Amino acid sequence: MTALKKIELHLHIEGAAPPALIRSLAAEKKQDLSGIFDANGAYSYQNFHDFLRVYEAATSVLTTPRDYARLLTEVLGECAEHGAIYAELFVSPEFCGGGDLVAWRDYLAAMEEAAQAAERGGIASRAILTAIRHFGPDRARKTAICAAETAGGWVTGLGIGGAEDFGNLRDFAWSYDCAREAGLGLTAHAGEWGGPESVRDALSLGVTRIGHGIRASEDVDLMHELAQREVTLEVCPGSNVALGAVRGWGAHPIARLADAGARVTVSTDDPPFFHTTLSHEYQMLADHFGWAEDEFRQMNLWAVDAAFCDETTKTRLR
Ligand code: ADE
Ligand code: ZN
Repeated sequence: MTALKKIELHLHIEGAAPPALIRSLAAEKKQDLSGIFDANGAYSYQNFHDFLRVYEAATSVLTTPRDYARLLTEVLGECAEHGAIYAELFVSPEFCGGGDLVAWRDYLAAMEEAAQAAERGGIASRAILTAIRHFGPDRARKTAICAAETAGGWVTGLGIGGAEDFGNLRDFAWSYDCAREAGLGLTAHAGEWGGPESVRDALSLGVTRIGHGIRASEDVDLMHELAQREVTLEVCPGSNVALGAVRGWGAHPIARLADAGARVTVSTDDPPFFHTTLSHEYQMLADHFGWAEDEFRQMNLWAVDAAFCDETTKTRLR
């Protein structure tokens, strides 16, 4: 599965941080992070909310543009090793300078340089600036402003992640309107924990993609609407299994969503947290649902169609 060329649409930059890098930065900065790792040195958490806590603790050692450039180089290198030729990364200005536009520009410049070097090495990338839902709508506006002000180069989208049980997605409409006016692509985490109504809320923001969206499988009309509107689902099965959003690989609704005609794609979300890689995800889909070359090719074509990049890049990726 490593050799197959792949498109990764849903990858959180901090969530992709190798534990060894986080430990090394913590040592350099004399920060004690021992509580977030298990005896084998892997990230350790009990449930989704605890995962978010550990995620933010790990992120706290990433304090400079140089840290983020170093992280991005490692993350894209790892993606390329598993056959990715294109990756979209969720990057949050909240973690890169506290939502301040001037600081964000410095972080962005460092990451853009790292992204260009990685592209010369064979993996293209783009950034989806990401609001953190449990930080609330006011802070999300700052993210949207950072996105709108730096749109055009590496920054091509707006998203929202974090605790899906915090508030309502429609409270973030201002941020989505701002990003749409700046010509950015739109996606939102929904239907990972929330039911079909959370996916409908995301659609009302004007997104063309949904992060996860797996609980749309509980509503036949909604699945057909997703299919008919050609909305793309960024499904991350290994994440859903590890976090307990589904009972196990065999119970994952990805095949049902695909059978209903929804545009299903596969990504890794936060790979080291879930002990996964893009090739492992493909292997598990092959093992549990019998997916093979044809299914994977179709999935990647949909991913390219839905990617937040220009047509010239899309042609190259196809
Ligand atoms: N941030 C990182 N991973 C996430 C997930 N699976 N859901 C929501 N927010 C996230
Ligand atoms: Zn995610």
